[in-house]
Amino acid sequence: MDVIKTLAVDIGGSGIKALVLDEAGEPLSERDRIKTPKTATPEAVMDVIKTLVEQQGEFDRVSVGFPGVVREGVIYTAVNLHPDWEKIWKKYDLAGELSQIVGKPVRVANDADLQGLGAMQGKGVELVATLGTGIGGALFTNGHLVPNLELGHNKFRKGQTFEEQLGRAAAKKISRKVWNSRLLKAIELWERVFNYDQLYLGGGEVKHIEIDLPENVTVVPNVLGLIGGIKLWK
Ligand code: BGC
Repeated sequence: MDVIKTLAVDIGGSGIKALVLDEAGEPLSERDRIKTPKTATPEAVMDVIKTLVEQQGEFDRVSVGFPGVVREGVIYTAVNLHPDWEKIWKKYDLAGELSQIVGKPVRVANDADLQGLGAMQGKGVELVATLGTGIGGALFTNGHLVPNLELGHNKFRKGQTFEEQLGRAAAKKISRKVWNSRLLKAIELWERVFNYDQLYLGGGEVKHIEIDLPENVTVVPNVLGLIGGIKLWK
């Protein structure tokens, strides 16, 4: 029987990545990455995806991780893609549009949810926090996802949200030491709120982690944001 090939696309605030996977989530192609357009309108993002589609070759279906709230393939928020996101992204049918372009079925989910689907083991309460341009989160109980958690937009400290204190824009303004101490405070707070068995930290900024993490906290590779794409079809 032929292998079903899934093109996994991860739309991030700084890069858009793509990779073809087999049904077990094993990569069948080299990962490609193109910078997210400065003015990330739906059209500009679609153009990048079209280029990635050409570079990646053959596939049967597409999974997309999107940095905002997504329901049934339709976008509801996109705070890190465009300042005018409410006007240009809200209610954009990303799954429908992309499926028209590529002529294949497309499923779209929140990026942290996809990263989480790639990372979680399916036992107990598992929380995934993604540290990138934005701060994302995914919560699982025995492998069941609470979708669109939007962890980053909750209040954290000094009247600011987790994203305002720990996201890429903040990380650029403060020392590594301060960013790491904020992260530790965030972890302590998440542990108190969610009482998770395991917390996974993913996203591009994990490379800046310099603190000793508690025993039930693990750093997971960013590629899980793509590999999680296979789980959307299970
Ligand atoms: C968005 C989330 C997303 C996270 C990481 C946040 O700003 O609201 O939906 O998961 O960034 O990209």
